[in-house]
Amino acid sequence: MGERTMEKKPIVFSAIQPSGTMTLGNYLGAIKNWVSMQDEYFCFYALADLHTITVRQDPKEFRKNILDLYALLLACGVDPEKSVFFIQSHVSAHSQLAWLLNCYTQFGELSRMTQFKDKSRKHADNINAGLFTYPVLMAADILLYQADKVPVGADQLQHLEITRDIATRFNGLYGNVFKIPEGFVPKNGARVMSLQTPENKMSKSDENVNGCVYVLDKPETIMKKFKRAITDNDAQVRFDPENKPGITNLMTIYSAVTGLTSEQIESDFSGRGYGDFKTAVGEAVVENLRPIQNEYERIIKDRAFMEETWTKAADFAAKFSQRTLDKAMKKIGYIL
Ligand code: TRP
Repeated sequence: MGERTMEKKPIVFSAIQPSGTMTLGNYLGAIKNWVSMQDEYFCFYALADLHTITVRQDPKEFRKNILDLYALLLACGVDPEKSVFFIQSHVSAHSQLAWLLNCYTQFGELSRMTQFKDKSRKHADNINAGLFTYPVLMAADILLYQADKVPVGADQLQHLEITRDIATRFNGLYGNVFKIPEGFVPKNGARVMSLQTPENKMSKSDENVNGCVYVLDKPETIMKKFKRAITDNDAQVRFDPENKPGITNLMTIYSAVTGLTSEQIESDFSGRGYGDFKTAVGEAVVENLRPIQNEYERIIKDRAFMEETWTKAADFAAKFSQRTLDKAMKKIGYIL
């Protein structure tokens, strides 16, 4: 985390919520990409635990989710020697800048956020102000680090747009305070769908437990879920998202864990049944996850290492982000 290496590399910021156990979709779609960006970019990666309480959390479960996800991301290859991997709530500048930016964000523009509308419908009994201003906290996360690039899921692109709007508005009033970040959906990230309803994204809220594979699922559970995956009747392993969403999804997963192209997979499995193919995908996933699961088991027991790692990262993030916060406050007129 030397200052020198930082200067040369563009800055990346991204975050993930500790809102449950990591799915295979999270891993292949987002986290693998986080890991691969660490050499080319100077990366700030956060557990967005402040965002998570916009939906009510059980304290015990919440704490466990934070610890588990921190250990699991380290196990996946997020490398604290290369990147600043911290816990959002450890760095108070996030809450502070979020308040300031709230006053530069319009009710009308937040009302248009589709995620807010979806979540209000889903949690009709708890439409709290935090849920409404969630994108402002996200803008604070990103702008504090003067991030150049922000890899996100497609569902977060609208939040990136509002981040840019807020930053542009603030800069328009006060001069150049924030870097205008560029959000993007990583091209090499696999879009993993439910194994049971392949029209929908793989998600922990899947009604059918067999639709979603977790990174920490036992090998036999993973095999069972793949063997039960929904396919179709024409018995051909062929990439065709429109007509064969189930098989196409399995091919996407297989391709992500083996590096094989669709053409190679099609030719390897031509004339063989779906049974063989599902077994091959399951086994490849099990082998891919095995070292991650082993690392996780080792790290989660080493609380001292985890604490040392997140403390160091939070110290660095706090120092780095304070510069931006101070600058914004001075511009507004605060006495520092
Ligand atoms: N809202 C993001 C999600 O749920 C997580 C997140 C919080 C984030 N702050 C961020 C992502 C800043 C990118 C940048 O996926």
